[in-house]
Amino acid sequence: MSECKSCIELDLRNIYCEAVGREHGLDEAELEGLSGGIEGFARTIAERRGKDIGFMELPYDERLLGTIREKAAGLRSWCRNFVVLGIGGSALGNVAVHSALQHPCHNLLPAGHPGRLGAPRIFVLDNVDAARLRGLLDVLGDELSETAFNVITKSGSTAETMGQFLFFRDLLRRGRGCDPARQIIVTTDPSPEVSLLRRIAEREGYFALPIPPNVGGRFSVLSAVGLLSAAVGGLDVASMLKGAAAMDARCRVGSLRDNPAALYASALYLLYRRGKRITVLMPYSHALRALADWYCQLWAESLGKRDGLSEKGVFVGPTPIASVGVTDQHSVMQLYQDGPFDKVITFVKVAGGGDEPLAICAGESEPELKYLAGHSFDDLMGAELEATRCALRDKHRPNCTIRIPRVSAGVLGELFMFLQYAVTYSGYLYDVNAFDQPGVELGKQYTYGLMGREGYEPPAVSNEHN
Ligand code: PA5
Repeated sequence: MSECKSCIELDLRNIYCEAVGREHGLDEAELEGLSGGIEGFARTIAERRGKDIGFMELPYDERLLGTIREKAAGLRSWCRNFVVLGIGGSALGNVAVHSALQHPCHNLLPAGHPGRLGAPRIFVLDNVDAARLRGLLDVLGDELSETAFNVITKSGSTAETMGQFLFFRDLLRRGRGCDPARQIIVTTDPSPEVSLLRRIAEREGYFALPIPPNVGGRFSVLSAVGLLSAAVGGLDVASMLKGAAAMDARCRVGSLRDNPAALYASALYLLYRRGKRITVLMPYSHALRALADWYCQLWAESLGKRDGLSEKGVFVGPTPIASVGVTDQHSVMQLYQDGPFDKVITFVKVAGGGDEPLAICAGESEPELKYLAGHSFDDLMGAELEATRCALRDKHRPNCTIRIPRVSAGVLGELFMFLQYAVTYSGYLYDVNAFDQPGVELGKQYTYGLMGREGYEPPAVSNEHN
């Protein structure tokens, strides 16, 4: 795979005491104090790389990329709708990719519109809410036979996803002109011993893509989990992987100052220890709104733990919140500025300049609105971000900014890799296993028990009253 230069910059100026004051800001020496530890963590991550941790190896799987491209081309030739069935890490990455890179009104554009990139309409369910399912059926209408379903589940048995699968397989079995074997693609663990869905796929002849055993759900967006729907959507998956590879190179190094993920993780960790237990990701880009949701899952499931690696009962973890600029300036920003001193905000700033700037007013305006009329919407967005950064700084609220040149496939790949590495370093800093999710698993076990799955017990005392 050819090289691609990383272009994301991390601006930490507003986390230091020079900007936000001694009580709430860090001093350089505190960060420096973590540099020895980071060197050790980088070495451990290198040793685990490709063994029990696999997300950083995903950008280099050229064979998979070929398979994905071929399968996507086939699907694009006949399907009018592409539906992802999955939940959590098997859905949020897909939503983040499509929200960031697809036309903002993709599903509403006519099929032949250039903004559709020749792609089918794309839906990601991420829930088992019957109203949502009924709604989707209304939208699919008489196009069921021209709809592909990508069933994504690492474990191959999650109740929500398997419920969605059973529902649609049944519809396809009964639908005129439908054929489950043509229309269902599964993405799951490669082993039939591990994944029930893999066994079903083998028996029923579904096309199957792998999720490597060493890649957990929330770290899987750059695997077949996120790549197939992206390729079906006509997105530049090769660039996304190249961007991720470029960030991988930056995040492997042991030097704290040269490793943006380790630096970011260290800053947030030190601020957490100072009582900033809430971490907000706030892109100033509507397209990146769903990236913030993906980040919330990554952060919460990886770092929210009862037990630490060396001590039990530690109950740690920052609470992640997704916000979006400028929308949330007129909502939660009041709390961020004047509420408790328990938050650190990370902005994502898009330099822009790719598209022709959209003028706020091409013609005449009232004299009172001249301050707006002469500008573009990018100018307004930029001014609002700068105003917010300064207001937070002046009110002693630590904040930092990830600067990206544009929202593109390559940059998105970089962002995914950056945040996955950052949570990996954070796992070491908080002294927790960032790769398990015992709380989520307990919920799954109880659900199986309550639904009557053989071999599983419901909770000893249920709160259910009806
Ligand atoms: O990150 C994780 O491991 C979880 O959020 C899973 O993605 C989620 O629980 C769905 O699991 P599965 O992909 O096995 O259906």
